[in-house]
Amino acid sequence: MRYITFALAKGRLAQKSMEMFEQIGISCEEMKDKNSRKLIFTNEELGCRFFLAKANDVPTYVEYGAADVGIVGKDTILEEGRRLYEVLDLGIGKCRMCVCGPASAAELLQHHELIRVATKYPDIAKDYFYNKKHQTVEIIKLNGSIELAPIVGLSEVIVDIVETGATLKENGLTVLEEVCPLSARMIVNQVSMKRENERISQIIRDMRALVLSRQEGQQQQ
Ligand code: PRP
Repeated sequence: MRYITFALAKGRLAQKSMEMFEQIGISCEEMKDKNSRKLIFTNEELGCRFFLAKANDVPTYVEYGAADVGIVGKDTILEEGRRLYEVLDLGIGKCRMCVCGPASAAELLQHHELIRVATKYPDIAKDYFYNKKHQTVEIIKLNGSIELAPIVGLSEVIVDIVETGATLKENGLTVLEEVCPLSARMIVNQVSMKRENERISQIIRDMRALVLSRQEGQQQQ
């Protein structure tokens, strides 16, 4: 039996998605050993392999077929623009992509001023300002702590992920516009979807049923 290989975005998402995989009977004991330096973990019985990768690299592994299935945030899928199938919203890692800044910047957005936008997501920002808002802006790519940019005068606004809003609040910034909602998605390589259709479709069906039952559980609370 050929292995089905899963690429998971490192961090909280990987842990949460492994918990979900376990609930549909796909577990990996090897992965639970926190001291292990291994990069790839196997469940021989199920014919599955798992590896952790930087979020930005997960769509790359999936597009090239080095992984059949990937779990990664919608933000990364949009930004990377890879050829792959996005098959399921896992309903975890929910947050929003937003335009943020000091409240005073709202006016600059309203009047379509030529402003500078700092972001880790230049393609998402470009698509939003150019194609949706038809506003010309200067996009500045940063790699982290994006909230710093308007504070130190690098840009007027930022395009960034907002989860609880605590980072913005503590830095005197606010959400000015919402770009799109985000959450973790399951992605599948286009060839694997055909070649391993039976096994992958079963995984998608089981995962979809789990997501639905979790949503129903949440609504009842
Ligand atoms: C993300 C994001 C915000 C923060 C939002 O940063 O870029 O800074 O989380 O979360 P909150 O709304 O709950 O405060 P991350 O911690 O991933 O690190 P980064 O700044 O290096 O991108």
